[in-house]
Amino acid sequence: MNDSGQRLRHRLEAVRERTLLLYEPLDDATLRRAPEPIMSPPLWDLGHIAAYEELWLVRRLTGKRSLYPDLQAVYDAFETPRATRTGIRMLEPDAARAYLDEVRLRALDALDAADLGEDGPPLTRAGFVFDMVAQHEAQHTETVLQTLQMLPAGSYRPPVRRRLPDAPAGALPNGPALVPSGSFEMGADGQGFAYDCERPRHQRAHGAFLIDRLPATNGRHLEFMADDGYRRPELWSAEGWAWRQREGVDAPLYWERDGAGWLERRFERTEPVDPALPVSHVSWYEADAHARWAGGRLPSEVEWERAAGWDPALGAPQGVPWGDGAAAGRANLDQLAFGPAPAGAYPEGAAPSGCLGMLGDVWEWTATCFRGYPGFRAFPYREYAEVFFGGGYRVLRGGSWATQPHAASTTFRNWDHPYRRQIFAGFRVARDLDEGADA
Ligand code: AVJ
Ligand code: FE
Repeated sequence: MNDSGQRLRHRLEAVRERTLLLYEPLDDATLRRAPEPIMSPPLWDLGHIAAYEELWLVRRLTGKRSLYPDLQAVYDAFETPRATRTGIRMLEPDAARAYLDEVRLRALDALDAADLGEDGPPLTRAGFVFDMVAQHEAQHTETVLQTLQMLPAGSYRPPVRRRLPDAPAGALPNGPALVPSGSFEMGADGQGFAYDCERPRHQRAHGAFLIDRLPATNGRHLEFMADDGYRRPELWSAEGWAWRQREGVDAPLYWERDGAGWLERRFERTEPVDPALPVSHVSWYEADAHARWAGGRLPSEVEWERAAGWDPALGAPQGVPWGDGAAAGRANLDQLAFGPAPAGAYPEGAAPSGCLGMLGDVWEWTATCFRGYPGFRAFPYREYAEVFFGGGYRVLRGGSWATQPHAASTTFRNWDHPYRRQIFAGFRVARDLDEGADA
């Protein structure tokens, strides 16, 4: 096997090792349980991961039949939507694990035989479909962590907990970054793995704007709450206020009142809300209202990517805000912290704009509705992204603590309904800047 084959084999193996580690604490009952109809029982994700790998790496590349032809509909996300995945016929835990193992053996055979060259067939060119399958598994581990967090306290005990850095000792960079009007190259180019919705790379013009160097913190959100933020309709969009009224929301998800203060639950732990952490588990509606209260607005997706990835000195986009090198010590990705780090904890991860924490900790809601870039072409299947275009989904950027580093970049686009709160999502505030005026 050549170098790129080795890289892909290692990637697939590392993702699998992580999946199995995260599943290790799960007992039989928890495997079969979905906390709410919007999530799947973790046992479904396990079989789905195997079925997806089998579809793309075995069936598509080698023409072999599925090991379980009559379960393929069960494991298809569209044919069997989340609300219907509890109590249906699916593989038992041992059989699901054996399915994962057997598919993997076949997938590695397919990898041996694949033409990974730059001039090879589109599906395997530069390893595309192998990276896609590894990212798919990584994305599902984040989804499973959302499911496990949603279960009653103590249902899941993380198998390890990596220590996070403290908040920086000195003063935080609390002022916003100023980005002058201009244009930059947005999206991913042909090199390295990227999803179809990140392509094609194209020139984007933008006005001048200010963007907070840090994500909004729990401390700031507590100020919003103390200032009656959840009770003042003028701070909310009409749709957001209707949602807030209907759902009776008056704090982020997983917050509980404790006398005059608030507690936050994370897996088995319930602790006082830490004002230094980025606020998380807020809907787009709450993010939008908080930003308006702060005298600003959510950044557009264009502004976010300009602030996260563009290096004006190089005149080139960067896949990670810090330009080059591993995420360790520069961002809280990789899942094993099981929660966000204090805002500003990674000065080494700064973007050229001065923004910190653009990758990791919490996904960041943007003002933008999810659509294709100019010149978009679905590849290799419409159901990854295209079928969601124009559906009112809002774009999220940057990845969370529950995202694996290879699945996070300055161009990666996530999306969800504006009312969703189980995702590990926060936001940062942006403001218009009249370039003629004194900043
Ligand atoms: C990109 C996170 C929105 O979970 O629906 C998983 C990822 N696609 N399996 C999702 C995905 C197919 C997707 N998100
Ligand atoms: Fe999936």
